[in-house]
Amino acid sequence: MEIVEHIEAIRTLRPRFERLGLVPTMGYLHEGHLSLIRRARADCGAVAVSIFVNPTQFAPHEDLARYPRDLDHDLRLLRQEQVDLVFVPHNSIIYPPDFCTYVHVEQLTTMLEGRARPGFFRGVATVVCKLFNIIQPTHAYFGQKDAQQCVVVQQMVKDLNLPIQIIIGPTVREPDGLAMSSRNAYLSPTERTAATTLYRALQSAKELYVAGERNAESLRQSIQRVLAAEPLAQPEYISAADPTTLDELETIDERGVLLSLAVRIGPARLIDNILLPNKP
Ligand code: PAJ
Repeated sequence: MEIVEHIEAIRTLRPRFERLGLVPTMGYLHEGHLSLIRRARADCGAVAVSIFVNPTQFAPHEDLARYPRDLDHDLRLLRQEQVDLVFVPHNSIIYPPDFCTYVHVEQLTTMLEGRARPGFFRGVATVVCKLFNIIQPTHAYFGQKDAQQCVVVQQMVKDLNLPIQIIIGPTVREPDGLAMSSRNAYLSPTERTAATTLYRALQSAKELYVAGERNAESLRQSIQRVLAAEPLAQPEYISAADPTTLDELETIDERGVLLSLAVRIGPARLIDNILLPNKP
């Protein structure tokens, strides 16, 4: 496993691989990340993982400084997965002092996470575009856990004609349904128990959908009711949106629905989603 901090070193190593799958991460790795790495290995043979806590996707009041980090543990996991290339750049490599070019995906970034976290997707799109240009993967892997991020990255790749195939992996969950996330580390035991409410809320809406409900507001209300029963949960948004345009729906048709939510539980801001019909 090659661990690389500099762009020149990537340029030297890159010709070793014909197909190369990239899994961009911010580290503090868990089974969600590892599932993407395994998929990349199965598809491409060779896998690159980037670990970079990207400052441009954090607002000044957000958790950049306390975002969990454990590089030694991450590298042990990546070695076990037989990852070929790990890119661990310092901030100044990605954002030199004179840096002034950003990637802005319009429209899709004005709702949901983009509305709640202005500037977030500008940071994500910029760093993902840079990682694509630096590592030049043939394939790149993203988790459905961050549904809007998947939509935004796919739009960027299409609009900028980037020669990279984007593959979306299913959300990996704890046995009680909580979506795995590096930010789950912020939760106390009581908050951790309360956090299962996100998945239970989504499941309540899924049950209505499976029973034939196609009124989007009924699904949003069902999610709202389950969250309201958990005193530690402070909902930020609850959405039943078109999976492609992310526009809020009135009636759900054959294009299906992306049910998503952001909820504060103690010090953590958690997000989750499900795609209906039939997707994890
Ligand atoms: P991070 O939160 O570390 O996630 C890295 C990748 O793992 C993302 O594609 C994310 O959707 C996926 N992932 C996280 N939890 C998952 C889960 N429970 N199941 C499946 N996949 C999961 O997302 C980012 O980092 C950053 O925004 C990044 C894309 C690296 C840009 O900085």
